[in-house]
Amino acid sequence: MSKSKLQNLQSPKGMHDILPQEQMWWDKVRKEVDYIADYYNFMRIDTSLLERAEVFEKSLGETTDIVEKQMFVYKSRSGDRLALRPEGTASIVRSYVQHGLSHLGQPLKLFYTGPMFRKEQPQAGRFRQFHQTGFEIVGGDDDPVYDVQVILALYRLLERFKIKNLSLHINSIGCRVCRPTYRKKLTDYYKDLAPKLCKDCRRRVKENPLRLLDCKNEQCQPYKAGAPIILDTLCSNCSKHFKGVLEYLEELKLSYQLDNHLVRGLDYYNRTTFEFFTDVAAEDGTKFDFALAAGGRYDYLFEVFGSRQNSGVGGAVGMERVIEVMRKIKVNLGLRYKQTVFFVHIGEVAKKKSLSLIEELRAAGIPVSESLGKDSLAAQLRSANKERADFALIFGQKEVFEESIIIRDLKNSVQETVPLMKMVNEVKRRFK
Ligand code: HAM
Repeated sequence: MSKSKLQNLQSPKGMHDILPQEQMWWDKVRKEVDYIADYYNFMRIDTSLLERAEVFEKSLGETTDIVEKQMFVYKSRSGDRLALRPEGTASIVRSYVQHGLSHLGQPLKLFYTGPMFRKEQPQAGRFRQFHQTGFEIVGGDDDPVYDVQVILALYRLLERFKIKNLSLHINSIGCRVCRPTYRKKLTDYYKDLAPKLCKDCRRRVKENPLRLLDCKNEQCQPYKAGAPIILDTLCSNCSKHFKGVLEYLEELKLSYQLDNHLVRGLDYYNRTTFEFFTDVAAEDGTKFDFALAAGGRYDYLFEVFGSRQNSGVGGAVGMERVIEVMRKIKVNLGLRYKQTVFFVHIGEVAKKKSLSLIEELRAAGIPVSESLGKDSLAAQLRSANKERADFALIFGQKEVFEESIIIRDLKNSVQETVPLMKMVNEVKRRFK
């Protein structure tokens, strides 16, 4: 294919293939996710990649960045507006209500892992297709112990990825009773500052003042420092809830940092919000200034789907981000070197018998590779070298006739002919 043709057919902006040589990192993170989910009794749920767009519009909020500008929405022929899911929580709650999953027990501990889609400007740790693993505890009541169970599962998961220097940032953004008072205080504070703020924040003062605290724009930072603090305005129920969360964290000796500006970019949250960071530095000096995982409580989200249920809390890890950190800090995956053999055939008669001999080796648990499509001995040995096989099993006309096979040690080229009947045992004897 010509270069210009290929350029037109490359993967879309911000979307990446996960290539065979990267799969070991993904295998590791998937394995640890399954371990933690099982350890803390979270049941797996998979929801569809496409949802009706309203599922997110009504849950995340019309004025959030995701809904305003980041969703991949398409109109089906029948006029339905469908969106590629930008996150998992709204879909989980949709599915929980739609299928009446409360009968599975209250609260229900669910986890999911899979791709999410957001039309963002790609940059370090920010892609248009990315993967999340989320843990959600839904149903039951709003006991702060559930908030901490989610945080604990995420903490332990990040630890199992061998990411050090983790920090948990935490805040409470109150409820319908106390948040309006805070919003008013915030609007009053920002009202006169509006002309000095960035374009987005000027809009936020009117539409979504809490998000003013979330702005990363340099121009707005000086004003954030003097903004009123939400914890001072919490009602007594929210204060008690947040105190409960912090006490459970302290009991578990999980350190945390109170973060007054942590309001999160999704409207469905109430009370607890949290994010995990790491300040571990890679050998090449790379710093990771993005959240590895994030979440919070979302008691009001069930109403959107017509349910009277009113408790949910969860959090999700960004898989690309944790893998980037793991690779940069050179996490040892603990992969054990596996010795392998390469099966080499010479001639048609030997080739005919090769598949069944290879099957015999595989059935005996011996890792074996081959290139049965190639006929020349030299080409097959080149493949064996490329694959860094430890031994070659060479099977030609003479060996067919004598019912034997040659075992060649590819490190020192020492070789020996052994009876076919003993092939498996002789290979195993040579494996360390
Ligand atoms: P979120 O903060 O939007 O929350 O995303 C959670 C995590 O996903 C982030 O901390 C980050 O690691 C990763 N992430 C987000 N956007 C991207 C991106 N464009 N590229 C790469 N990684 C990304 C949620 O999605 C909530 N649903 C989390 C939650 C679960 N809340 C309650 N339950």
